[in-house]
Amino acid sequence: MPGARSSLAELQVVVRRPPEVVALQARARSYAASAGLANVRCWELAIAVSEAATNMIKYGGGGIVILRVGEEPRPYVEIEARDRGGGIEQLEQALVDNISEGSDAREVRDPLQRRGLGLGLGAIHRLMDEVEITSEAGKGTTLRARKWIT
Ligand SMILES: Nc1ncnc2c1ncn2[C@@H]1O[C@H](COP(=O)(O)OP(=O)(O)O)[C@@H](O)[C@H]1O
Ligand SMILES: [Mg+2]
Repeated sequence: MPGARSSLAELQVVVRRPPEVVALQARARSYAASAGLANVRCWELAIAVSEAATNMIKYGGGGIVILRVGEEPRPYVEIEARDRGGGIEQLEQALVDNISEGSDAREVRDPLQRRGLGLGLGAIHRLMDEVEITSEAGKGTTLRARKWIT
């Protein structure tokens, strides 16, 4: 339907606990489908949003995820994940695969002793077309990531 995408309202989802990520992931996938994103790309966006939400819960005390569409510079679906936690320390390092909470997750042999694999932020970059992270110590983190629709 012409104009359907631009009339798609913003969707805001508060996430505080892990089970809420499951519902968020499903909502994000159908939102992306309504926006006209191809099926596989809807799944990719859903994985990215669940990684961002999981990080907010683990490290930011929870937060809010906003899904929106836009047209400039080209049609996109955007996920914005905002929390008011402590912020990402050493952002450059946090983006490196396998680095979780400042150290190499592969060096922790016992899987029960680690909270993460350090692959979430890297995955978000690989799954989305454009990613922007701003983080300030003590103030929180905002991750914005877009996927082009056409
Ligand atoms: N919202 C956030 N607030 C504070 N720190 C974060 C946030 N998201 C990520 N981080 C930091 O970045 C690191 C890397 O994140 P990620 O790649 O998702 O790996 P993992 O969650 O498995 O550790 C985390 O271990 C954490 O130290
Ligand atoms: Mg993570």
